[in-house]
Amino acid sequence: MPKWSRRKFLGNSLKGTAGLLTVSVLPLGLAACSKDDKPKDVSSMANLGPLSELERGEFPKKVNYKVTYKDAWVTQEEEGFVYINKKKDGNLLIMAPICTHLGCTVPEADETLKKEGVYFKCPCHDGQYDENGINVAGPPPRPFDVYEAVIQDGNLYISVFDRIKREKS
Ligand code: FES
Repeated sequence: MPKWSRRKFLGNSLKGTAGLLTVSVLPLGLAACSKDDKPKDVSSMANLGPLSELERGEFPKKVNYKVTYKDAWVTQEEEGFVYINKKKDGNLLIMAPICTHLGCTVPEADETLKKEGVYFKCPCHDGQYDENGINVAGPPPRPFDVYEAVIQDGNLYISVFDRIKREKS
C-alpha cells in the first residue's frame, strides 16, 4: 500500500483543553481527525482559509498562502500556492504544485488540455498531470506531493515544508 494511503489511519477528533476548540489532523485533507490527542501548533503553518469555503466552488482550484516561520533566529515570510481537488468521496486533496521531474512550478493547463484530462502542465519539459496531480505524460516519475492538513477553528492549515510523496498507482 502506498505511504500516503497508510496515512488514512487518522480517525478521532480532538478537543482543546478548554473543550472549546476542535483540532483535527487530516491526511490529505480527509474529513477525519487525529488519534493524536495533543493540539497542533499552527503558528508556523500556512492558513489556507476556512474549510467551509475551501469545500465550495470549482475544482481543482488554486489557493494562495502566505506563511511566517522562524528559521533559527530569523523570521521568514514565504508566499506560495497549492492546488486543491475534491475527490469523489468528498474529501479534499491538497497538492504541491511542484513538478516531480526537476522541481519546476507547474501552472494550470489550458482549457483544451483540460478537456483531455490534463489539468496541470509543466513549462520546463511538458510534464502533464491530471486533476488529482497524477502524472499522465512526460518525464515526471510520480504524482504531485500532497500535504497533511490540520483543521483548527474551522481553518485549514498545512506545514508547507512537510510534503508527502505519492507513488503512481
Ligand atoms: S521539470 Fe517538469 S517536466 Fe521537467
